[in-house]
Amino acid sequence: MSIALIILAAGKGTRMKSDLPKVLHHVAGAPMLVHAMKSAEALEPEKTIVVAGHGSDAVSKAATGYNETAEVVLQTEQLGTAHAVAQAKDALSGFEGDALVLYGDTPFISPETLQQMSEARANHDVIVLGFEARDPGKYGRLIMNGDSLAKIVEFKDASDEERAITLCNSGVICAKSSVLFDLIDAVGNENASGEYYLTDIVEIAQAKGLSATSVTCDESETLGVNSRVQLAEADAIFQAKARIALMEGGVTMHAPDTVYLSHDTYIGADTIIEPNVVFGPEVTVENGAHIRAFSHLEGAHVSRGAVVGPYARLRPGTELAEDTKIGNFVELKNAVVDEGAKVNHLSYVGDAHVGARANIGAGTITCNYDGVMKHHTEIGADSFIGSNTLLVAPVSVGANAMTGSGTVVTKDVPDTDLAIARAPQVNKTGLAVKLFDMLKKKKASKAKGAE
Ligand code: UD1
Ligand code: CA
Repeated sequence: MSIALIILAAGKGTRMKSDLPKVLHHVAGAPMLVHAMKSAEALEPEKTIVVAGHGSDAVSKAATGYNETAEVVLQTEQLGTAHAVAQAKDALSGFEGDALVLYGDTPFISPETLQQMSEARANHDVIVLGFEARDPGKYGRLIMNGDSLAKIVEFKDASDEERAITLCNSGVICAKSSVLFDLIDAVGNENASGEYYLTDIVEIAQAKGLSATSVTCDESETLGVNSRVQLAEADAIFQAKARIALMEGGVTMHAPDTVYLSHDTYIGADTIIEPNVVFGPEVTVENGAHIRAFSHLEGAHVSRGAVVGPYARLRPGTELAEDTKIGNFVELKNAVVDEGAKVNHLSYVGDAHVGARANIGAGTITCNYDGVMKHHTEIGADSFIGSNTLLVAPVSVGANAMTGSGTVVTKDVPDTDLAIARAPQVNKTGLAVKLFDMLKKKKASKAKGAE
């Protein structure tokens, strides 16, 4: 069965107190909207329609940035969830498959759950995703009649008896697309909120002799985000699951609760992650690497056997080959470091290629930016860069070459050469002691004057 996704994302999210539309707030390094789109990927949707309202330009950009075939439709006034879905009608005219409605602010519905809903469609016309709520609060309640879903009542419109029900509506609904829009046409807004409720389609379907049922999932999947506190809770839930998945995949974490992961972090087996490491988006770590404490990685690839940190920062475009060593207070950006090379202390290497087994001394800096443009630095294999070398890019140091400590390299260094560029040292005999005496006398006379 082919599937079209309809993702509701028009709400402002007043309680977020934000200029950013709610669905664009990040959980684990990606907008909630992207999490929702990602969770439905396993169903291989033929079409994805995002219903946008508040901040629709930004929402549109995020949606198409993730999936360029996504279509964004506008809901200029937020008149309710049924009205929101109705905005997708034209985009799906003639579509023969099922429509699956998701919320852009409910990022964690699992692919397995969506699969179950899709399978349940074999026997029923309308499938609603429900969950047993520990605190049912203001959720809509599912009124079951055996296996059949009789109707959904919104909290505001529910009787005390109905409010006592703990089986709640997640908001996710699946039905044949043409049927869904027919049912929505019959939805009115005579209710406590004066809104067009998508939930009303269940009772309408039953009245038309169609069948409806619910599929249930764990409450953690249906967590919706309405405030910054819930955003943090959502992130915590994501992190907990992702850490467990990594550990089950063979990754050692000394203090998992202190490791922050992104939605797409990949870490291979037998890698060790020490405490307080942050993974920004687009990081891949191969098997058997070691990420030491307090490191921050983003847009980087770390190969087998590499050691990173403590206190290392890998920025986008960093590629570490096997058995490389990146030490404390080292920042790498857009830098390819070949096998066995070492950048152990206090360095900045940006827009650079470091050859195999090169040793970059403490305090080395690639001066890659001239204030207007960025330039490349090439460091040859088996070279030795002396401590505190400044490499003024564009510049290259050849293979098996050396630079003296403190050298400012402004010209290319050929293979096997030694470059030294610093003022020659002069020793003045006995001058240190004379200078000390002079300074002590000065201090003494100053103290006297102050008495
Ligand atoms: C809705 C359900 C409720 C369910 C709950 C789960 C209805 C009538 N009620 O209630 O049964 O328990 O979700 O969280 O469907 N949206 C639009 N345009 C609109 C209205 C809403 O795009 O005109 C979007 C919102 O941005 C949000 C989602 O739809 O992502 C849900 O809307 P919201 O107003 O939060 O619904 P609830 O009242 O929480
Ligand atoms: Ca809500």
